[in-house]
Amino acid sequence: MIEVKKHDLVIVGAGAAGLRAAIAAAEADPSASIALVSKVYPMRSHTVSAEGGAAAVAREDDSQEMHGYDTVKGSDFLGDQDVIEYFVEEAPKELTRLEHWGCPWSRNNDGSVATRAFGGMTTKRTWFAADKVGFHILHSLFQHSLQFENIVRYDENFVTKLLVEDGAVRGVSSLSIREGVVRCILGRAVILGAGGAGKCFPFTTNGMIKTGDGMALAYRAGVALKDMEFVQYHPTGLPGTGILITEASRGEGGYLRNSLGERFLVDYDYGVGAKAELGPRDMISRAIMGEIAAGRALKGPYGQYVHLDLTHVGESAIDSKLPFVRELGRTYVGVDPVHEMIPIRPVVHYMMGGVDTDITSATSLPGLYAAGEVACASLNGANRLGSNSLTECLVFGARAGTTALDYANGTDDCNEARMRTQVADEIERLDGLRGRQKGGERISQIRNEMNLTMERGCGVYRDQDSMTQTVREMGQLRGRVSDLGLQDSSKVFNTELIAALELHNMVDVAESVAMAAQQRKESRGAHACSDFPHRNDQEYLHHSLIHWDVGGPRFGKKPVNLGTWEPEERKY
Ligand code: FUM
Repeated sequence: MIEVKKHDLVIVGAGAAGLRAAIAAAEADPSASIALVSKVYPMRSHTVSAEGGAAAVAREDDSQEMHGYDTVKGSDFLGDQDVIEYFVEEAPKELTRLEHWGCPWSRNNDGSVATRAFGGMTTKRTWFAADKVGFHILHSLFQHSLQFENIVRYDENFVTKLLVEDGAVRGVSSLSIREGVVRCILGRAVILGAGGAGKCFPFTTNGMIKTGDGMALAYRAGVALKDMEFVQYHPTGLPGTGILITEASRGEGGYLRNSLGERFLVDYDYGVGAKAELGPRDMISRAIMGEIAAGRALKGPYGQYVHLDLTHVGESAIDSKLPFVRELGRTYVGVDPVHEMIPIRPVVHYMMGGVDTDITSATSLPGLYAAGEVACASLNGANRLGSNSLTECLVFGARAGTTALDYANGTDDCNEARMRTQVADEIERLDGLRGRQKGGERISQIRNEMNLTMERGCGVYRDQDSMTQTVREMGQLRGRVSDLGLQDSSKVFNTELIAALELHNMVDVAESVAMAAQQRKESRGAHACSDFPHRNDQEYLHHSLIHWDVGGPRFGKKPVNLGTWEPEERKY
């Protein structure tokens, strides 16, 4: 007999967005029952790895107007301006609230909250807790969530499908990884807070868990993925591992140097202007690729790289503000940044695109909401400014929690028997996959091929020929993933089965990235297309949509919400 768990609200993902949504809903209605389902233990969510900070207006020389403009310009005018205005207004309230819940923001000598410079921002706007911000944010949220008895956790549970009945979402089918049991978790509304999909690429700052699960769940349930072509390369990843060296190192005064020792961002016009190291990520990543192409990079066992120089910043500043950078440098590349330069190169970091949501975090599927990196509320447009995303998780996580709860409270219970039938189908599917030795394909082979074709076709620079090839290859991989061969038929902690489900999710999401990229015949933000080097507002000032279809993905588009700020040339 299939076990059914009944709640008012189901939240998938327990990182910053999921936890914030759960707290908002639990506070709004203490009688509501909220399921918090995560494939990992909450403190292992990828939020924990965030380093540099969270953006919100705090200083007297700053304003919401300036934060809004910086974000719109950073987005290359593809951000929705109503969403951006709401975000900048809520941001300081959320970060202050987080402090009340225990987040130890670093302080100035006078006791005010310390802020640091980040790329593309006009003033110091990034709140920080040394360079372990994600850890402190996640810890504060998690601890705070523990006081709510109406938040019921399902840790190490992998959601395999959204349950949809009569055109509305009604809950999820969830595999307990520890027990190997699939349960029906019902809720009159569902929030996705399941993060991004950086693992579609070979070289990424993202942890192993970032496999696009939430995006794939919504996509297959009929919700479009929006602006998927915009994949953010962070300029400073460690060669080999892809471990993030935070942008805060440049915010605290670090320089980028080429093989000649030159601060190339100052000497050459890569579009970053006087901002140099504090330019936006898309432009700095392209500048590094430019140095590589010009033969001014260094060569190492993991390819070409340039240097991040902190040697002039000083030991005491590094130890107080960037202790993790020092630890990472010493541990992973044998470099002490107090005395030596750190090798770095651009690395996949963040998906600007995601599940198409509106300003309330609602999707087009009644009852389904999404927030954080999994979602695309169109805050970030074609390029996100560093440190906006942690705040985004809080602002839109909270919004999702309250709007989804309102929806749930106005909705009747579903037909339980029909939900059981859907979960029974899922059990049959998973049983067929577990230990499926007859399959001719290997997980590692398909994952490697996907990684390589995505890097080739959807890298820092793209061109039509390689994108077309990647679209073709991703279509073939989508066919092949249904013929996986698996060896492990056990139920308990069957990590091979989880890897197979994750691969399926990544392949669908990666295909949507390639397809959206191929359709955008211009260059905007993180989408730098060599065949069309300029932005083309006449034809492409719109969001792209990719709809899932049995015959293959379908392309669509939707207008950008403009407002106060008129599109202009993006110059720094
Ligand atoms: O570099 C960093 O600390 C990353 C921040 C972000 O992606 O927001």
